Amino acid sequence: MKVEQILSQFQATGVETCFHARHINPQIYAGLNGRNWGIQDYEARGGYAALRKILGKDGGEGLTQDQVIATVKESGLRGRGGAGFPTGLKWSFMPRQFPGQKYLVCNSDEGEPGTCKDRDIMEYNPHTVIEGMIIAAYAMGISVGYNYIHGEIFHTYERFEEALEQARAAGYLGDNILGSSFSFQLHASHGFGAYICGEETALLESLEGKKGQPRFKPPFPASFGLYGKPTTINNTETFAAVPWIIRNGGQAYLECGKPNNGGTKIFSVSGDVERPGNYEVPMGTPFAKLLELAGGVRGGRQLKAVIPGGSSSPVIPAELMMKLTMDYDSIAKEGGSMLGSGAVIVMDETRCMVKALARLSYFYSHESCGQCTPCREGTGWLWRMVDRIEHGQGRPSDIDMLDSVAGNIMGRTICALGDAAAMPVRGMLKHFRHEFVHLIEHKTSMVNADATAVKTHG
Ligand SMILES: Cc1cc2nc3c(=O)[nH]c(=O)nc-3n(C[C@H](O)[C@H](O)[C@H](O)COP(=O)(O)O)c2cc1C
Ligand code: SF4
Repeated sequence: MKVEQILSQFQATGVETCFHARHINPQIYAGLNGRNWGIQDYEARGGYAALRKILGKDGGEGLTQDQVIATVKESGLRGRGGAGFPTGLKWSFMPRQFPGQKYLVCNSDEGEPGTCKDRDIMEYNPHTVIEGMIIAAYAMGISVGYNYIHGEIFHTYERFEEALEQARAAGYLGDNILGSSFSFQLHASHGFGAYICGEETALLESLEGKKGQPRFKPPFPASFGLYGKPTTINNTETFAAVPWIIRNGGQAYLECGKPNNGGTKIFSVSGDVERPGNYEVPMGTPFAKLLELAGGVRGGRQLKAVIPGGSSSPVIPAELMMKLTMDYDSIAKEGGSMLGSGAVIVMDETRCMVKALARLSYFYSHESCGQCTPCREGTGWLWRMVDRIEHGQGRPSDIDMLDSVAGNIMGRTICALGDAAAMPVRGMLKHFRHEFVHLIEHKTSMVNADATAVKTHG
């Protein structure tokens, strides 16, 4: 698909993507316009300077593997795929002296409802992911890597392939990169749209050509990953942050954010805001500021609640959310939720929380891979109960039952999809129990249905 077509699609829907001036100190989205994704434009923005720096091609001495890992540790970069695991620490788990093949994998599956940041990075700044992966490969002594791209954005996959060709032709990828002794082959691969293939071990299975179902852990990918070999997996945005860190230093990145939450973060703001889109801001930015950047609540309505980190993160009521800052610690410790992938779903006063939970629960029930009983049966059970409450057929015992089923899924499954299905249920019951009780008692939502109809996205 041509850039013009993509742009006009977004313009038609009113979605901002990343081309706007309302980022704050952007690093990954800085200076993008939809047309300057190619290698020459990337180099003009300072691209591949970090790779030159570590290989000593900029007149300096170069950086050792340990120095690169130490810089990433110092930066406070935490994985942007959801769990927020410290990236430098993860890289240090790779057994560098392992004599056989080792792999590097980029997780670009991006299937979490509300999340749409990685596709913009890959389409409009693909070389920053490529450069970040080359640097990671150098640091961990890896010679082969894959970028696993969500199957429903095939044009993004094609764009990434084009960027790979450019990087190979320029000598940044392949054998003896820039005349050094370091070689790295990087390939793109696309999935087929299953959400579960974003879970790292399901992704590895899928990459191996098998059914995308999570593996038991341990062993973890660092020791038993792709084809049973040591593997490091990071999210697209995590890799995209690396060139800036190497160019400017770990301390500079840390200082962009707040302690233990280094750098900038891309938030995909959706729902009831005037300007849904991707916003890159420093970690620790107040939520109120992010909401303002996204144009505020649509139609001047009142904010009711926010899902702060993708559909699996528990909902936070407006009053509490307006006091929080957008970083891992504030959202978890003060908000009782998770920053997750950074998908911020804004809900205004006309949203019925029972209806919202029914939609989320259906998603998880649909996406369960079916391997473990608590998830396979429990997610369907949750959805059917919330669905019947929404349709005025709930029983008084349903609320305790919902809580109990959610509790029996959590911590009892092979992968975190089970928890991801249970946590939104518990979050909704904690903060909006009265809406469930009202619907069960009165068989109608306490939220003004007419207003909802007017406001719905369509
Ligand atoms: C059901 C499920 C779906 C996931 N989907 C994604 C995804 O689309 N992209 C992603 O980067 N991580 C996803 N993750 C997290 C990955 O398993 C893994 O933690 C992540 O890719 C590690 O990269 P990071 O350390 O850079 O965050 C998912 C996890 C689960 C349980
Ligand atoms: S928790 Fe759900 S999605 Fe994950 S392995 Fe078990 S059944 Fe599959």
